[in-house]
Amino acid sequence: MALPRKVTVIGAGDIGCGWAALCVAAGWPVTLFDASAQGLERGAADVPQRARALVEQQRASQGIVERGLLEFEQARSLLQGVKDADWVIEAISEDLMAKQRLFESIEQVAGHDALLTSSSSGLPPGDIFARCRRQDRCLVAHPLNPPELIPLVELVPGPRTTQSTVARAQDYLRSLGRMPILLKKAVPGYVVGRIAAAVWRQCIDLVLDGVIDVDELDRAVSLGPALGWAAAGPHLTYHLAAGDGGVTLFLQQLLGSFESWWAELATWKRLEPEQQRALIHSVERAYKHKLELLREARDRRLGAILRALEQARTT
Ligand SMILES: NC(=O)c1ccc[n+]([C@@H]2O[C@H](COP(=O)([O-])OP(=O)(O)OC[C@H]3O[C@@H](n4cnc5c(N)ncnc54)[C@H](O)[C@@H]3O)[C@@H](O)[C@H]2O)c1
Repeated sequence: MALPRKVTVIGAGDIGCGWAALCVAAGWPVTLFDASAQGLERGAADVPQRARALVEQQRASQGIVERGLLEFEQARSLLQGVKDADWVIEAISEDLMAKQRLFESIEQVAGHDALLTSSSSGLPPGDIFARCRRQDRCLVAHPLNPPELIPLVELVPGPRTTQSTVARAQDYLRSLGRMPILLKKAVPGYVVGRIAAAVWRQCIDLVLDGVIDVDELDRAVSLGPALGWAAAGPHLTYHLAAGDGGVTLFLQQLLGSFESWWAELATWKRLEPEQQRALIHSVERAYKHKLELLREARDRRLGAILRALEQARTT
Protein backbone atom coordinates (compact mmCIF):
# COMPACT_ATOMS: atom_id res chain seq x y z
CA MET A 1 0.00 0.00 0.00
CA ALA A 2 1.32 3.47 -0.91
CA LEU A 3 1.46 5.86 2.02
CA PRO A 4 0.11 9.36 1.48
CA ARG A 5 2.74 11.74 0.14
CA LYS A 6 0.90 14.58 1.81
CA VAL A 7 -1.93 14.82 4.33
CA THR A 8 -3.95 18.01 4.69
CA VAL A 9 -5.98 18.68 7.80
CA ILE A 10 -8.72 21.32 7.57
CA GLY A 11 -9.67 22.82 10.94
CA ALA A 12 -7.05 23.48 13.62
CA GLY A 13 -9.18 22.78 16.69
CA ASP A 14 -8.63 20.03 19.21
CA ILE A 15 -9.36 17.25 16.73
CA GLY A 16 -7.59 18.69 13.67
CA CYS A 17 -4.43 19.33 15.71
CA GLY A 18 -4.63 15.79 17.11
CA TRP A 19 -4.86 14.28 13.62
CA ALA A 20 -1.99 16.51 12.46
CA ALA A 21 0.18 15.55 15.47
CA LEU A 22 -0.50 11.86 14.82
CA CYS A 23 0.49 12.08 11.14
CA VAL A 24 3.53 14.26 11.90
CA ALA A 25 4.63 11.70 14.52
CA ALA A 26 4.52 9.04 11.79
CA GLY A 27 6.92 11.21 9.75
CA TRP A 28 4.25 12.07 7.16
CA PRO A 29 4.22 15.51 5.48
CA VAL A 30 1.26 17.41 6.92
CA THR A 31 -0.34 20.71 5.96
CA LEU A 32 -2.82 22.39 8.29
CA PHE A 33 -5.45 24.89 7.21
CA ASP A 34 -7.98 26.86 9.24
CA ALA A 35 -10.41 29.55 8.13
CA SER A 36 -9.35 31.62 11.14
CA ALA A 37 -5.82 33.08 11.20
CA GLN A 38 -5.88 32.87 15.00
CA GLY A 39 -6.90 29.21 14.83
CA LEU A 40 -4.09 28.45 12.43
CA GLU A 41 -1.56 30.23 14.63
CA ARG A 42 -2.73 28.20 17.65
CA GLY A 43 -2.45 25.01 15.59
CA ALA A 44 1.09 25.90 14.48
CA ALA A 45 2.14 25.80 18.15
CA ASP A 46 -0.17 23.01 19.31
CA VAL A 47 0.74 20.38 16.71
CA PRO A 48 4.53 20.29 17.42
CA GLN A 49 3.82 20.25 21.15
CA ARG A 50 1.38 17.34 20.85
CA ALA A 51 3.61 15.42 18.42
CA ARG A 52 6.60 15.80 20.81
CA ALA A 53 4.41 14.74 23.77
CA LEU A 54 3.98 11.42 21.95
CA VAL A 55 7.74 10.88 22.25
CA GLU A 56 7.56 11.46 26.02
CA GLN A 57 4.67 8.98 26.11
CA GLN A 58 6.86 6.44 24.25
CA ARG A 59 4.33 6.42 21.41
CA ALA A 60 6.63 7.89 18.76
CA SER A 61 10.35 8.11 18.10
CA GLN A 62 12.04 11.48 18.37
CA GLY A 63 13.85 11.22 15.02
CA ILE A 64 10.65 10.50 13.10
CA VAL A 65 8.71 13.24 14.88
CA GLU A 66 11.43 15.83 14.14
CA ARG A 67 11.54 14.68 10.49
CA GLY A 68 7.75 15.02 10.29
CA LEU A 69 7.95 18.49 11.84
CA LEU A 70 10.36 19.64 9.11
CA GLU A 71 7.55 18.98 6.63
CA PHE A 72 4.75 20.41 8.78
CA GLU A 73 3.28 23.47 7.09
CA GLN A 74 0.38 25.84 7.44
CA ALA A 75 -1.57 26.69 4.31
CA ARG A 76 -2.73 30.24 3.63
CA SER A 77 -5.66 29.06 1.52
CA LEU A 78 -7.79 25.98 0.99
CA LEU A 79 -6.40 25.67 -2.53
CA GLN A 80 -2.79 25.74 -1.31
CA GLY A 81 -3.56 23.16 1.35
CA VAL A 82 -5.55 20.70 -0.65
CA LYS A 83 -4.29 20.76 -4.23
CA ASP A 84 -1.55 18.12 -3.92
CA ALA A 85 -2.83 16.18 -0.88
CA ASP A 86 -3.43 12.43 -1.08
CA TRP A 87 -5.60 12.51 2.05
CA VAL A 88 -7.73 15.44 3.14
CA ILE A 89 -8.97 15.20 6.74
CA GLU A 90 -11.84 17.55 7.57
CA ALA A 91 -12.02 18.56 11.24
CA ILE A 92 -14.08 21.76 11.29
CA SER A 93 -16.93 22.48 13.69
CA GLU A 94 -19.89 20.05 13.83
CA ASP A 95 -22.08 22.11 11.47
CA LEU A 96 -23.70 20.19 8.63
CA MET A 97 -24.08 23.14 6.24
CA ALA A 98 -20.48 24.26 6.84
CA LYS A 99 -19.19 20.73 6.20
CA GLN A 100 -21.30 20.42 3.03
CA ARG A 101 -19.98 23.73 1.70
CA LEU A 102 -16.42 22.85 2.63
CA PHE A 103 -16.49 19.45 0.88
CA GLU A 104 -17.98 21.09 -2.21
CA SER A 105 -15.01 23.50 -2.24
CA ILE A 106 -12.47 20.78 -1.46
CA GLU A 107 -13.74 18.74 -4.38
CA GLN A 108 -13.06 21.61 -6.75
CA VAL A 109 -9.37 21.81 -5.81
CA ALA A 110 -8.41 18.31 -4.64
CA GLY A 111 -6.53 15.90 -6.89
CA HIS A 112 -8.62 13.28 -8.67
CA ASP A 113 -7.31 10.45 -6.46
CA ALA A 114 -7.41 12.18 -3.08
CA LEU A 115 -9.15 10.41 -0.20
CA LEU A 116 -11.57 12.71 1.65
CA THR A 117 -12.58 11.97 5.25
CA SER A 118 -14.74 13.81 7.75
CA SER A 119 -14.13 13.73 11.52
CA SER A 120 -17.81 14.29 12.29
CA SER A 121 -18.99 12.89 15.62
CA GLY A 122 -22.34 11.70 14.33
CA LEU A 123 -23.70 13.38 11.19
CA PRO A 124 -24.86 11.04 8.41
CA PRO A 125 -22.13 10.72 5.75
CA GLY A 126 -24.77 10.87 2.99
CA ASP A 127 -25.63 14.38 4.25
CA ILE A 128 -22.05 15.56 4.83
CA PHE A 129 -21.00 14.70 1.26
CA ALA A 130 -24.36 15.60 -0.33
CA ARG A 131 -22.87 18.37 -2.46
CA CYS A 132 -19.96 16.28 -3.78
CA ARG A 133 -20.12 14.78 -7.23
CA ARG A 134 -17.44 12.18 -6.40
CA GLN A 135 -18.86 10.63 -3.21
CA ASP A 136 -17.15 7.33 -4.00
CA ARG A 137 -13.91 8.58 -2.36
CA CYS A 138 -15.54 10.13 0.72
CA LEU A 139 -16.30 8.65 4.14
CA VAL A 140 -16.43 9.52 7.82
CA ALA A 141 -13.37 8.62 9.88
CA HIS A 142 -14.49 9.53 13.39
CA PRO A 143 -11.61 9.65 15.89
CA LEU A 144 -11.88 9.76 19.65
CA ASN A 145 -10.42 12.63 21.62
CA PRO A 146 -7.42 12.94 21.72
CA PRO A 147 -6.97 11.37 18.27
CA GLU A 148 -3.20 11.03 18.62
CA LEU A 149 -3.62 8.81 21.69
CA ILE A 150 -6.86 6.81 21.45
CA PRO A 151 -6.41 4.25 18.65
CA LEU A 152 -10.07 3.59 17.82
CA VAL A 153 -11.48 5.26 14.69
CA GLU A 154 -15.04 4.66 13.47
CA LEU A 155 -15.31 4.35 9.71
CA VAL A 156 -18.75 5.23 8.41
CA PRO A 157 -19.15 4.89 4.65
CA GLY A 158 -21.83 6.85 2.82
CA PRO A 159 -24.26 5.27 0.38
CA ARG A 160 -21.85 5.80 -2.52
CA THR A 161 -18.49 5.13 -0.83
CA THR A 162 -16.62 2.34 -2.65
CA GLN A 163 -15.02 -0.71 -1.03
CA SER A 164 -11.62 0.40 -2.28
CA THR A 165 -12.03 3.77 -0.54
CA VAL A 166 -12.85 1.99 2.72
CA ALA A 167 -9.84 -0.31 2.26
CA ARG A 168 -7.58 2.65 1.60
CA ALA A 169 -8.80 4.48 4.70
CA GLN A 170 -8.23 1.31 6.75
CA ASP A 171 -4.69 1.01 5.36
CA TYR A 172 -3.80 4.62 6.15
CA LEU A 173 -5.24 4.36 9.65
CA ARG A 174 -3.48 1.08 10.42
CA SER A 175 -0.20 2.62 9.22
CA LEU A 176 -0.79 5.27 11.87
CA GLY A 177 -1.29 2.59 14.54
CA ARG A 178 -5.05 3.21 14.64
CA MET A 179 -7.68 0.49 15.04
CA PRO A 180 -10.48 1.25 12.62
CA ILE A 181 -13.91 -0.29 13.09
CA LEU A 182 -16.35 -0.33 10.18
CA LEU A 183 -20.04 0.45 10.60
CA LYS A 184 -22.39 -1.55 8.39
CA LYS A 185 -24.89 1.30 8.29
CA ALA A 186 -24.88 4.93 9.30
CA VAL A 187 -26.92 5.84 12.38
CA PRO A 188 -26.88 9.29 14.03
CA GLY A 189 -24.06 9.45 16.59
CA TYR A 190 -22.60 6.30 14.98
CA VAL A 191 -21.74 3.61 17.56
CA VAL A 192 -19.37 5.33 19.96
CA GLY A 193 -21.46 8.49 20.31
CA ARG A 194 -24.62 6.52 21.02
CA ILE A 195 -22.94 4.45 23.73
CA ALA A 196 -21.36 7.56 25.25
CA ALA A 197 -24.66 9.47 25.13
CA ALA A 198 -26.60 6.64 26.80
CA VAL A 199 -24.05 6.20 29.60
CA TRP A 200 -23.60 9.94 30.10
CA ARG A 201 -27.36 10.52 30.45
CA GLN A 202 -27.44 8.02 33.32
CA CYS A 203 -24.34 9.61 34.86
CA ILE A 204 -25.86 13.11 34.70
CA ASP A 205 -29.13 11.81 36.09
CA LEU A 206 -27.41 10.18 39.07
CA VAL A 207 -25.55 13.41 39.86
CA LEU A 208 -28.56 15.73 39.45
CA ASP A 209 -30.71 13.33 41.46
CA GLY A 210 -28.24 13.65 44.36
CA VAL A 211 -27.28 9.98 44.34
CA ILE A 212 -23.54 10.66 44.04
CA ASP A 213 -21.04 13.51 43.59
CA VAL A 214 -19.34 14.12 40.24
CA ASP A 215 -15.86 12.94 41.29
CA GLU A 216 -17.19 9.70 42.81
CA LEU A 217 -19.41 9.10 39.78
CA ASP A 218 -16.42 9.57 37.47
CA ARG A 219 -14.43 7.13 39.60
CA ALA A 220 -17.33 4.65 39.50
CA VAL A 221 -17.18 4.66 35.69
CA SER A 222 -13.36 4.82 35.26
CA LEU A 223 -12.59 2.11 37.79
CA GLY A 224 -15.83 0.20 37.30
CA PRO A 225 -17.30 -0.66 33.90
CA ALA A 226 -14.74 1.34 31.91
CA LEU A 227 -11.80 -0.56 33.43
CA GLY A 228 -13.46 -3.89 32.69
CA TRP A 229 -14.51 -2.73 29.22
CA ALA A 230 -10.91 -1.70 28.46
CA ALA A 231 -9.97 -5.38 28.91
CA ALA A 232 -13.14 -6.90 27.42
CA GLY A 233 -16.19 -5.19 25.91
CA PRO A 234 -19.61 -5.44 27.60
CA HIS A 235 -20.67 -8.67 25.87
CA LEU A 236 -17.45 -10.55 26.60
CA THR A 237 -17.57 -9.20 30.17
CA TYR A 238 -21.03 -10.69 30.70
CA HIS A 239 -20.17 -13.89 28.80
CA LEU A 240 -17.44 -14.40 31.42
CA ALA A 241 -19.52 -13.27 34.39
CA ALA A 242 -21.54 -16.44 35.15
CA GLY A 243 -18.91 -19.12 35.34
CA ASP A 244 -18.99 -21.82 32.67
CA GLY A 245 -22.60 -21.06 31.77
CA GLY A 246 -21.54 -18.08 29.66
CA VAL A 247 -24.02 -15.52 28.45
CA THR A 248 -26.91 -18.04 28.56
CA LEU A 249 -26.57 -18.47 32.32
CA PHE A 250 -25.86 -14.76 32.78
CA LEU A 251 -29.19 -13.92 31.13
CA GLN A 252 -31.01 -16.52 33.23
CA GLN A 253 -29.51 -15.14 36.42
CA LEU A 254 -29.49 -11.42 35.81
CA LEU A 255 -31.79 -10.42 32.96
CA GLY A 256 -34.62 -9.88 35.46
CA SER A 257 -32.51 -7.40 37.43
CA PHE A 258 -31.41 -5.60 34.29
CA GLU A 259 -35.00 -5.36 33.09
CA SER A 260 -36.12 -3.86 36.40
CA TRP A 261 -33.29 -1.27 36.11
CA TRP A 262 -34.06 -0.55 32.45
CA ALA A 263 -37.61 0.25 33.49
CA GLU A 264 -36.22 2.86 35.92
CA LEU A 265 -33.48 4.47 33.86
CA ALA A 266 -33.63 8.09 32.79
CA THR A 267 -35.18 8.64 29.38
CA TRP A 268 -35.22 12.45 29.18
CA LYS A 269 -34.17 13.92 25.85
CA ARG A 270 -33.25 17.47 26.83
CA LEU A 271 -31.00 18.93 29.50
CA GLU A 272 -32.86 22.08 30.54
CA PRO A 273 -30.87 25.31 31.19
CA GLU A 274 -31.36 25.00 34.93
CA GLN A 275 -30.05 21.41 34.86
CA GLN A 276 -27.12 22.52 32.72
CA ARG A 277 -26.24 25.16 35.30
CA ALA A 278 -26.46 22.59 38.10
CA LEU A 279 -24.26 20.15 36.17
CA ILE A 280 -21.65 22.82 35.36
CA HIS A 281 -21.58 23.88 39.02
CA SER A 282 -21.09 20.26 40.17
CA VAL A 283 -18.31 19.54 37.64
CA GLU A 284 -16.45 22.78 38.36
CA ARG A 285 -16.67 22.14 42.10
CA ALA A 286 -15.27 18.63 41.61
CA TYR A 287 -12.37 19.67 39.35
CA LYS A 288 -10.66 22.85 40.52
CA HIS A 289 -7.27 22.46 38.79
CA LYS A 290 -6.50 24.25 35.53
CA LEU A 291 -7.81 22.43 32.47
CA GLU A 292 -4.28 22.17 31.08
CA LEU A 293 -3.10 20.26 34.16
CA LEU A 294 -6.16 18.02 34.16
CA ARG A 295 -5.61 17.27 30.44
CA GLU A 296 -1.92 16.43 30.96
CA ALA A 297 -2.78 14.07 33.80
CA ARG A 298 -5.54 12.43 31.73
CA ASP A 299 -3.14 11.95 28.80
CA ARG A 300 -0.49 10.40 31.09
CA ARG A 301 -3.04 7.90 32.38
CA LEU A 302 -4.23 7.16 28.83
CA GLY A 303 -0.64 6.51 27.72
CA ALA A 304 -0.10 4.15 30.65
CA ILE A 305 -3.31 2.23 29.92
CA LEU A 306 -2.40 1.87 26.23
CA ARG A 307 1.11 0.63 27.08
CA ALA A 308 -0.34 -1.92 29.50
CA LEU A 309 -2.89 -3.14 26.94
CA GLU A 310 -0.23 -3.44 24.23
CA GLN A 311 2.02 -5.40 26.57
CA ALA A 312 -0.82 -7.73 27.55
CA ARG A 313 -1.55 -8.38 23.88
CA THR A 314 2.00 -9.60 23.19
CA THR A 315 2.42 -11.75 26.29
N1 LIG B 1 -13.94 17.51 20.44
C1 LIG B 1 -14.18 16.19 20.47
O1 LIG B 1 -14.13 15.56 21.52
C2 LIG B 1 -14.44 15.46 19.19
C3 LIG B 1 -14.18 14.07 19.12
C4 LIG B 1 -14.35 13.42 17.89
C5 LIG B 1 -14.78 14.13 16.77
N2 LIG B 1 -15.06 15.46 16.89
C6 LIG B 1 -15.50 16.16 15.68
O2 LIG B 1 -14.35 16.73 15.06
C7 LIG B 1 -14.71 17.98 14.43
C8 LIG B 1 -13.85 19.10 15.01
O3 LIG B 1 -14.09 19.18 16.40
P1 LIG B 1 -13.23 20.16 17.34
O4 LIG B 1 -13.65 19.87 18.73
O5 LIG B 1 -11.77 20.09 16.99
O6 LIG B 1 -13.81 21.59 16.87
P2 LIG B 1 -13.25 23.04 17.23
O7 LIG B 1 -14.44 23.93 17.24
O8 LIG B 1 -12.33 22.98 18.41
O9 LIG B 1 -12.34 23.42 15.96
C9 LIG B 1 -12.85 23.63 14.70
C10 LIG B 1 -11.86 24.48 13.91
O10 LIG B 1 -12.34 24.53 12.56
C11 LIG B 1 -12.18 25.87 12.08
N3 LIG B 1 -13.16 26.05 11.01
C12 LIG B 1 -14.50 26.19 11.12
N4 LIG B 1 -15.05 26.27 9.89
C13 LIG B 1 -14.05 26.16 9.00
C14 LIG B 1 -13.98 26.13 7.58
N5 LIG B 1 -15.08 26.24 6.84
N6 LIG B 1 -12.78 26.00 6.98
C15 LIG B 1 -11.65 25.87 7.72
N7 LIG B 1 -11.65 25.90 9.06
C16 LIG B 1 -12.83 26.03 9.70
C17 LIG B 1 -12.39 26.75 13.30
O11 LIG B 1 -11.76 28.02 13.11
C18 LIG B 1 -11.75 25.92 14.40
O12 LIG B 1 -10.38 26.25 14.57
C19 LIG B 1 -16.22 18.14 14.67
O13 LIG B 1 -16.93 17.62 13.58
C20 LIG B 1 -16.45 17.32 15.93
O14 LIG B 1 -17.78 16.88 16.04
C21 LIG B 1 -14.88 16.15 18.05
